[in-house]
Amino acid sequence: MATLKNDTLLKALRREPTPYTPVWLMRQAGRYLPEYNATRARAGSFLALAKTPSLATEVTLQPLARFPLDAAILFSDILTVPDAMGLGLQFAAGEGPRFLRTTADEAAIAALAVPDMAKLAYVFDAVSEIKTALAGSVPLLGFAGSPFTLACYMIEGGGSSDFATVRKMACARPDLLQRIVDVNAEAVAAYLNEQIARGADAVMIFDTWGGMLSTPAYRRFSLAPMRSILAALKPAPDGAPVPTIVFTKGGGQWLDEVAASGASAVGLDWTVDIARARAAVGARVALQGNLDPIVLLTDPDTVDREATAIVRAAGPAPGHIFNLGHGIVPATPPENVAALVAAVHRESAAIRATP
Ligand code: CP3
Repeated sequence: MATLKNDTLLKALRREPTPYTPVWLMRQAGRYLPEYNATRARAGSFLALAKTPSLATEVTLQPLARFPLDAAILFSDILTVPDAMGLGLQFAAGEGPRFLRTTADEAAIAALAVPDMAKLAYVFDAVSEIKTALAGSVPLLGFAGSPFTLACYMIEGGGSSDFATVRKMACARPDLLQRIVDVNAEAVAAYLNEQIARGADAVMIFDTWGGMLSTPAYRRFSLAPMRSILAALKPAPDGAPVPTIVFTKGGGQWLDEVAASGASAVGLDWTVDIARARAAVGARVALQGNLDPIVLLTDPDTVDREATAIVRAAGPAPGHIFNLGHGIVPATPPENVAALVAAVHRESAAIRATP
């Protein structure tokens, strides 16, 4: 594999020293950028954008042209996998995702199968095209949804305020939920392995909804399938192991167990005290996070102060990747993102220089 000009992200994921803390932001390509909205309008819809590799490449690179971010993330969505399973993904204007078909009854769940990865060729082609366009400037992150978070959308048919159907299934028909997450785990492992084969330098599993489960249900339906994915990941084409990040939003109380999952890094939402998290996991894993995305709705001075506090709390030990505690929100002023990236780079270089 060609060497990267900026490999701070990969070094931090391996807990090797870096001259400063690398930073990237969940949803860094998105509606807060006018150039994203222009490309999306040109594509006609979010799905058309995600399914056209040249346009997905264009929007992946947009935030990197504006800010000195230390990684690119594939522009796609976690719901591509259930879409390829035949559920019929749609995004109505101004609403969240909807599936035409749900996976909520016994017959639909029995019929569920790992999709042919050829149906997801547009994602893998985007990975190849983005890698070429990046020309070794920064690493490219691939990603997928966790088996449980995908199951949430597959069962409810879309977003939900409480995912009550899913939580009922977890206790009343655990066998059915088990089958869905088992199929999803196999599909996600194949999906991530293909992204790795096409050049993803690291991969992240987004477990947005695992945090709403009871502890035993989290272990069984969210953490265990993520562990099986991590165990099934193949090395990069050059034979090197590919670093991994697991992010369970609302999973702070299970930090120890996520740190023992086999992932290189644990993603933290903004409710977690990062200093305490570092003390708890020691040198076992890298930590990613964890600024409240709403801080980016304030002003550059406030953003600087809040980002500085997190860099200092994370400390000078290697293995911190700065990020938000969840995705960037559409109302974010781009100048606040510029202030954030500058503060992280400045402050983290300064604490390393202090003996
Ligand atoms: O981080 C990145 O920049 C990569 C791109 C990315 C998107 N979705 C693009 C997107 C990633 C990593 C995701 C993951 C994703 N998608 C998750 C897990 C992470 C999280 O945010 O919790 C989930 C739950 C989804 C499902 C999904 N996709 C929802 C609920 C929505 C609607 C929410 C919204 O912001 O409107 C989407 C749509 C979506 N995915 C958008 C983007 C940029 C907005 C679509 C648009 O342009 O209208």
